[in-house]
Amino acid sequence: MTPGLVPGFFCYNRRVSFDFDAPLERAGTWSTRWERYAGRDVIPLWVADSDFRAPPCILEALQARIEHGVFGYTSAPEELREAIVERLERLYRWRIEPSWIVFLPGVVPGLHLAARKLLPPDGHALIPTPVYQHFKRALELAPRAHTDLQLVLQHGRWVFDETAIKRSTQRNTKLFFLCNPQNPGGTVFTRNELERIAALTGDMVIVSDEIHCELVLERDLRHVPIASLAPEISRRTVTLMSPNKAFNIPAAGCAWAIVENAALRQAFSIEVAAHVLHSPSVFGYAAALAAYTGGDEWLAAQVDYLRANRDFLEREIDLPMAHVEATYLAWIDCSSLGVADPHAHFLAHGVALSPGAQFGAPHFARLNFGTQRARLRQALERIRSASRPSPRG
Ligand SMILES: Cc1ncc(COP(=O)(O)O)c(C=O)c1O
Repeated sequence: MTPGLVPGFFCYNRRVSFDFDAPLERAGTWSTRWERYAGRDVIPLWVADSDFRAPPCILEALQARIEHGVFGYTSAPEELREAIVERLERLYRWRIEPSWIVFLPGVVPGLHLAARKLLPPDGHALIPTPVYQHFKRALELAPRAHTDLQLVLQHGRWVFDETAIKRSTQRNTKLFFLCNPQNPGGTVFTRNELERIAALTGDMVIVSDEIHCELVLERDLRHVPIASLAPEISRRTVTLMSPNKAFNIPAAGCAWAIVENAALRQAFSIEVAAHVLHSPSVFGYAAALAAYTGGDEWLAAQVDYLRANRDFLEREIDLPMAHVEATYLAWIDCSSLGVADPHAHFLAHGVALSPGAQFGAPHFARLNFGTQRARLRQALERIRSASRPSPRG
């Protein structure tokens, strides 16, 4: 039998090639996540980046650019457009045209552009809650009226309540924000759920943030881009995507919107074309292209590692949390602790989580398990000790 046919060989091989357990020092690297608690005995599991080095193919591509040494103005590489088109067709059977892609320095600017450019000042939007805070922030700063749609826990998954969508839709509701996979909560919306959302939103523009789409942990689930459901839905959807999360390159920064409808694309991208908003840097383009052309094996190994981290977390934690179908972010219900501020409570025990209040749910906390398992283990020991009832008397 050749080594390639030994069961598990590839798995073993992957672990050797990509060692996600390797300790990594991030102190002193300007990391947002690590600098806030520098010098304190605090394990930072808040901001959503991971503690893993980017795949070798990305490091090599960036090194090649550094070696070249010239960092002049840069146009969006045609080969990146082609790589995106090829990938979306391969992964999701979603056929797009290269010209539908609008490059952005990040997904968050895309949320802001959508709120300002796709909704008239007297318009109204619907957004899920709890949700990544920049959804709400984009609408508040625009400013545009909006209604929060409270997600409900059904069979252990955070999903939309259809009656809330119907009840909250007004005459001037023109925009529907979707976060798929959902952050926080980790839901991978099913084809059927997405079809219901599409039906309930009538002719609203759908802005679908799919930045976590390549971090599906559940083996039998597949990401479905809502725009891929039908041509009618594609024509009213702006899909925001980026390799920033899956390949851990948000500081290199490259993202894009996919907008089929030319009028919508024009409205969305007018300030991009005018350079009000800068294009991605040459490092962002180079990293994204390398990720999409050479990063698949690393990504699969990372997803395996994250899945094992999730399973470990679910076994060890004493507090309720929805099963994380995608992302490396656990959404933990801290109500049973009986503390007013779970974030402050865990911080006092040496673990920094994201406060649930940031996402609209103060009795929750979000834990980033995109880290080495040894660190996660240590954090969970602290969380368990913080979750024990304090002795009486
Ligand atoms: C749903 C979602 N959208 C966008 C972002 C940030 O995207 P970017 O860094 O590309 O602006 C995050 C980061 O956590 C996120 O969770």
